[in-house]
Amino acid sequence: MCLSQIARSISPSPTLALNEKAAILREKGDPVIHLGGGEPKSKAPMDALLAASASLNTGEIRYAPADGIPALKQAVIRYTEEFYGSKVAPENVMASGGAKQAIMVALQAILNPQEEVIFPSPYWVSYPDMVKLCGGIPVPVAPEDGTFYPRIKDIEQRINSYTKAIIINSPNNPSGVMYSEEFIADVVHLCEDKNIYLVMDDIYHRLIFDGKKPISCYKFAKDLSENSKLIVINGVSKQYAMTGFRIGWAVANQKLIEAMANIQGHQTSGPSVLLQKAAVAAINGVQSSVENLRATLENNRNVMMDYLNSFEGVRIYPPDGTFYTLADFSYYDKDSTRLSNMLIDKVQVLTVPGVEFGLEGHLRLSYCGSIKDIKEGIERMKWALDLNSPNELYIGDRKLVRDWA
Ligand SMILES: Cc1ncc(COP(=O)(O)O)c(C=O)c1O
Repeated sequence: MCLSQIARSISPSPTLALNEKAAILREKGDPVIHLGGGEPKSKAPMDALLAASASLNTGEIRYAPADGIPALKQAVIRYTEEFYGSKVAPENVMASGGAKQAIMVALQAILNPQEEVIFPSPYWVSYPDMVKLCGGIPVPVAPEDGTFYPRIKDIEQRINSYTKAIIINSPNNPSGVMYSEEFIADVVHLCEDKNIYLVMDDIYHRLIFDGKKPISCYKFAKDLSENSKLIVINGVSKQYAMTGFRIGWAVANQKLIEAMANIQGHQTSGPSVLLQKAAVAAINGVQSSVENLRATLENNRNVMMDYLNSFEGVRIYPPDGTFYTLADFSYYDKDSTRLSNMLIDKVQVLTVPGVEFGLEGHLRLSYCGSIKDIKEGIERMKWALDLNSPNELYIGDRKLVRDWA
């Protein structure tokens, strides 16, 4: 088979592959605990469900503008004012098939072949492949001090004449850490000074803990005119537990949004009008589900941290938000893929290898599931890895005997 160079350079999404693996094992009747998940378990808000079903019942679900229906643009404008303190116009907004497509289309609109995109490591699995899909070169930058907090000087050092954009995701998937206001201010200024695009992937910005407040990048921008190269990405997937609705958006300067809408128009003709209506209702509707989800995740985070704390040999970095933590398991195995496979095979616990996020020796664990799963999942992992624990473990009525050292 003759595939394009680009197709050959792209790897399958490891997180989607894991979801499939979990589904197959569950179908076989295996008692899988999925600590690799990337979506909240709560239901989509009632407002969204009612709006979608009312729209569906009309039987008239048609083509809509490629950049989003006016009602969604208005909802995003209001959202941007409320959470970012910034007034934008409909011409600055494009709705997309999830935040993922909004990022992808933005990269397609700005990147020429061989141009570089910098992002701090650990990073969301899709960034490198998205950049490669545009013919660009991903440039992950690992904090030199071994933390999850990027330093502006490390990023600045990697900027050269090929650098077209920086992507910042805070709070961060996979580490859960939220970057400081000072860092966000510095990166906004750096991009303005160097005249490069800044893509702010804010998909988790309301799912933060310990009384923290979302940070608005606009607050630090000196230039919010039509020359601004700030691209803000957000969506309904995580905060409203609407992952399957596939609605996200980008806010950027008018010329860029026009170019992005052209691209999206040829790709998909825009996201489904039905699901856009659901997103409008979620954004404009009762917001208690977001706070409920946020509080549940904070509690789950605390439970997971407690359990991991009792795990000798594992180094943890408490997350400030999201529903992930990236824990250092290198004491047990420096090869995170091998370790993750071992945990699936021996105790049916799914984790995501840190190497997929640019950090070997770590595992990404999600706490978006039930408390029971978090506790039992970590207990099983401990049993598998800590050779001082008893030789036998019961999973339901199955008795496991440790036959490995
Ligand atoms: C950092 C980050 N950005 C973007 C997305 C994509 O979100 P959506 O489901 O809206 O496409 C995800 C989903 O996992 C994510 O973790």
